[in-house]
Amino acid sequence: MCGIVGAVACTDIVSVLLQGLQRLEYRGYDSCGLAVHQGAPLDGTVPARGGLWCARSIARVADLAEQVHSLRAATGIAHTRWATHGAPTPANAHPQVSYGPAAEAAPRTPRVALVHNGIIENHAELREQLQARGYRFESQTDTEVIAHLIDSLYEGDLADAVLRAVRQLQGAYAIAVLHHDEPQRLVGARAGSPLVLGVGQAAGGQPSPLYLASDALALAGVTDQFVFLAEGDVVDLQLGRWRILDRQAVLQEATARPLKRVQLASQDVALGPYRHYMQKEIFEQPRALADTLEGVEGIVPELFDDHGQRSRAAWRVFDAIDRVLILACGTSHYAGCVARYWLEALAGVPTAVEIASEYRYRCSVADPRTLVVAISQSGETADTLAALRHAQTLGMHNTLAICNVATSALVRECELAYVTRAGVEIGVASTKAFTTQLAALFLLTLVLAQAKGRLTAPQQAHHLRALRHLPVALQGVLALEPQVIRWAEDFASKEHALFLGRGAHYPIALEGALKLKEISYIHAEGYPAGELKHGPLALVTSAMPVVAVAPNDALLDKLKSNLQEVRARGGVLYVLADADTRIASEDGVHVIRMPEHYGVLSPILHVVPLQLLAYHTACLRGTDVDKPRNLAKSVTVE
Ligand code: M6R
Repeated sequence: MCGIVGAVACTDIVSVLLQGLQRLEYRGYDSCGLAVHQGAPLDGTVPARGGLWCARSIARVADLAEQVHSLRAATGIAHTRWATHGAPTPANAHPQVSYGPAAEAAPRTPRVALVHNGIIENHAELREQLQARGYRFESQTDTEVIAHLIDSLYEGDLADAVLRAVRQLQGAYAIAVLHHDEPQRLVGARAGSPLVLGVGQAAGGQPSPLYLASDALALAGVTDQFVFLAEGDVVDLQLGRWRILDRQAVLQEATARPLKRVQLASQDVALGPYRHYMQKEIFEQPRALADTLEGVEGIVPELFDDHGQRSRAAWRVFDAIDRVLILACGTSHYAGCVARYWLEALAGVPTAVEIASEYRYRCSVADPRTLVVAISQSGETADTLAALRHAQTLGMHNTLAICNVATSALVRECELAYVTRAGVEIGVASTKAFTTQLAALFLLTLVLAQAKGRLTAPQQAHHLRALRHLPVALQGVLALEPQVIRWAEDFASKEHALFLGRGAHYPIALEGALKLKEISYIHAEGYPAGELKHGPLALVTSAMPVVAVAPNDALLDKLKSNLQEVRARGGVLYVLADADTRIASEDGVHVIRMPEHYGVLSPILHVVPLQLLAYHTACLRGTDVDKPRNLAKSVTVE
């Protein structure tokens, strides 16, 4: 979704802004832009009063870079925008600016330039008030109101104007703001959308360069020292010094926030030999799982204690709960759906799985003896965070984040955390995050099973062995790629597809359908196979391929009967069958033979050919695999 980069230094920062935007490109955007202060000197000498200068593009960041190839500046902000209010046009792209009220003599350059992630809910009412005071609006964005509002409150101190402005905002925002009169100052603020401060290395007696970004990844290779801003923070960056203010505090004293060292290698975001990030990430799964499970020696609650940093919290939490509520969106929600089968069958713990965007507004019955598990790759998904906070306000304070980003809001806001080690996931379609979430959820199942006295020592040893063997087993599944490509050749010309599964493989069917629809744009539905004859069977014709996930589990015979129902209607089957299922290819039935049944962990293997099927079908259809239309990687707005 939208991305922010900003910098104040005494050397040129234009390349830092552009590289930062390039690193955030994967999150999805449809326009971009930057603003620099031309009055900020490049050698650290006394600033002249220059002006704010902006460039915007509705093409890629590379186009913006071309527009500004000769630009040099020491203070600036930049943005990638994913349109919410107003179409992706140059006028709606950020930075949004304010020239002051129209009544005043028209200045040559803007007085305020601002970039914004999030949504301002009271923008219409603020717009009216500002229009009444003479401000002319040139975009359809909610963001433009913030620029004018800050201008209207400015009395010579940008941080003070931003503080007063954000107190009037309702909704979610992360902003970075420049003012015409303060060439070496950059002010940021956040509430509901992430923002980090990066502190660079001072060189040659010069002050340290300072940065702002919506994701630390944007500053990979630039700095490894970060302050993760908290809700309601306003951050004031002036050449070589910074302070953080709390928007609610009456006395404006600086708030202390820890400086953290986060190593972000630039090669993490390199494509390497792969054609797309999604392909790279599918093939990284053996490594991602091995890293996620590294150091897991036994089944102990501390595994969920943020790797030992919050001593004993996990013991207390696991002792205090007797049910689980899982909150998540999209693929993360499907990971939760698989986990429900495990948690109920192996640990005997009643489990509910809720789509976060529904749960946050639903009148539900809260039980304080619930472990609330929020699952998210990014840890910044607005609905998942809101659902978690909703559960907390209902009195459920035993919370666990399963998340791929250790520094995310979700991890910070939960009592416990299991940080998966999938590495940066760039493709919009989530792959390695899903399988590593499943590994973490299986560990959670084992910990709860043990706490409930349902796990014997031999069972524990067996499960741990199976978990540790997963990376090797996955290599075997990835080797099936040539067969999946042959399936993809059939799928590429189709417009609809049905995915069937039963038990813990029903969510895998849902996930297979989601993968196919989001990147190939083929309409796909996932169904529990037993539900076929209650409706979807009416859709089955030879034009609609039916994918079946067929592990050799207790439901195999039931599934085989469901597949007969499809064949009897002329449907063409594509079956991912475990080697020992005795399902063979024949006319109208295409079988890919999976390795032998992998027991309860089988969903982690069965999802991989479905990821490959979506990937290769999308490639054959020529879609933008890593950045499918209309979608963003992290959905940080509601
Ligand atoms: O970062 P999160 O896991 O919270 O994201 C949730 C969904 O937006 C995400 O899984 C989405 O469904 C993916 N694009 C699916 O591939």
